[in-house]
Amino acid sequence: MCGVFGYVTDHDEALGPILVDAARRLTYRGYDSVGAATFRDGSIDLRKDEGKVEVVAERQNLAEMRGSRGIAQLRWATFGAPSQVNAQPHLDSDGRMAGAHNGNVVNNAELRAEFAAEGMTVRSENDGESCVHAVERYLRRGEPPLDAIRHAYGDLEGDYSFVIGLADDERLFAFKKGSGMVVGIGDGFTCVSSDLPSILPLTRRVVRPRDGEIVTLWADRVEVRSVETGEPVDRPAELVTESMDVAQKGGFAHFMAKEIHEQPQVARELLHLLDASEDVDPIVERLRDARNVYLVGCGTSYHAALLGSVYFAQLAGRVAVPVLAPQFIAQYAPAVGPDDVGVFVSQSGETKDVLNALGAAQGRGMTCFGLANVVGSALTRDTAACLPLGCGFEISVPATKTFTNEAVAFLYLAYRLAGLDTARLAGVPDLMETTIAAVDEPVRALASELRDRDDLYCLGYGATYPIALEGALKLKEVTYAHCEGMLSTEFKHGPLSAVTPGFPIIFVAGPTDTGLIVSGLNEVRVRGARTITIAPDDARLRANGDVLVPIPASDPQVSALLAVIPLQLLAYHTGVLRGFDPDFPRNLSKTLTVD
Ligand code: M6R
Repeated sequence: MCGVFGYVTDHDEALGPILVDAARRLTYRGYDSVGAATFRDGSIDLRKDEGKVEVVAERQNLAEMRGSRGIAQLRWATFGAPSQVNAQPHLDSDGRMAGAHNGNVVNNAELRAEFAAEGMTVRSENDGESCVHAVERYLRRGEPPLDAIRHAYGDLEGDYSFVIGLADDERLFAFKKGSGMVVGIGDGFTCVSSDLPSILPLTRRVVRPRDGEIVTLWADRVEVRSVETGEPVDRPAELVTESMDVAQKGGFAHFMAKEIHEQPQVARELLHLLDASEDVDPIVERLRDARNVYLVGCGTSYHAALLGSVYFAQLAGRVAVPVLAPQFIAQYAPAVGPDDVGVFVSQSGETKDVLNALGAAQGRGMTCFGLANVVGSALTRDTAACLPLGCGFEISVPATKTFTNEAVAFLYLAYRLAGLDTARLAGVPDLMETTIAAVDEPVRALASELRDRDDLYCLGYGATYPIALEGALKLKEVTYAHCEGMLSTEFKHGPLSAVTPGFPIIFVAGPTDTGLIVSGLNEVRVRGARTITIAPDDARLRANGDVLVPIPASDPQVSALLAVIPLQLLAYHTGVLRGFDPDFPRNLSKTLTVD
């Protein structure tokens, strides 16, 4: 994700405190490295390092930085591990230009090779540096800054926002493609940021550029132009009225709601990242040739592993054993060897149970890959290759967007294992958007109905079985009610005795399970249960159940991915109605680094 901020005035000013404060307010977007560049009398002062804002600000004495323009950046590593050299901003070859970005430039590896071959000085592995050299490439050809930036935009694939300034200039330039960016207009200054929280303490007058637009910032005005034509675009300034707290949460009341709504965007970004990843081919090859494959995780990440194993089998005929990390040690580690492959899945990349399992597997010579959201975490360092989840900072303790991207990553690998065209996945984020819009109202109504319930079941089958487990976990975490996730067909083998009149049972059904689910619905309804079905719309499901929350029609694998969204929202709204803070449920912690 990352966060970037730029500030322009017309006189020499103490910019350090402004840049540090802006970075602090963007901390929710990343925190593994921080940097600032100020432009003063034709020279650039660049200071950056690995670490959180407060630590880097003190270590590098950012507060003393002065100038008439400045850029600050907070990093959430994707390209290049967290380190001083990979921290942003970056300089061009001659140190006459500095820039920083948020988001991902997915053709970073190819671009770095091209820039080096063209004689530029490439210092880091980070894709923010590629943005700077992309501009440098066209400046070297004699183009004026605005044209150079327009052409650079065409070379940079991915989703990002970018801010850049030249030493001998009075302006900053910013452009965006698939990532957020807001421009602020103040009294005697202008500023630009990945998000509102760093702008609002300075000014409430903002301009919101769209994708494919370049903004030029002077101290007293801003100008928006189309990248394609170079022509000015009319983007009138607007006044922001929302509070700082709401702005920080993207206009939502809680981070959990914000993160649920971010899922289409992060899934889209992940698909771009995977398309460009050099690690996918070798991982797929090893998965194909392995004797046994294990998918290992805990909590939500285990549910993603379970879904991954369904994807691998259904799409590619590849058996992969999904296993909770501690059980891997007890049950499988004694039997694994160099011919086996494990994929270890973790949002944090630091979960002790997962790292213990990784250690046990590596002790037996097994090839271990990772899927992790926090690049630079132990899992990313200690595996043969680790695919990033590209979700940015997930603040809410209940995992939502990271579950989705873990599942998307597994679906992508399953496609590759099966020799299917991954371009077919490009429509999945749009389907997620449609789902969010379609289920909002019925889910709010359901939350009101279920708010006083302390016992629920959530049942699924095939690809929706892991979704039922994940939905039940979300409901437990956020509402503090008891909700048990289960294979739908197992319900008759015992739990059926718990059903009393009005007992709520949620069924999650895929497009090919209708017959089975209709039996399940009737089995519990004749005993008085109240049923809620989450599934693609179907007349038989409507006729045989009490409530149907319809999701868009899609294939069984994608349908499961969509079905988790109403469950996340149900947990969220029910928890809020019950008076709990969904972001920080009692007794829980985001990262479990203990046994
Ligand atoms: O960071 P990890 O993905 O390894 O964390 C694993 C679990 O602790 C985590 O998924 C937990 O279950 C979440 N709070 C679920 O929302």
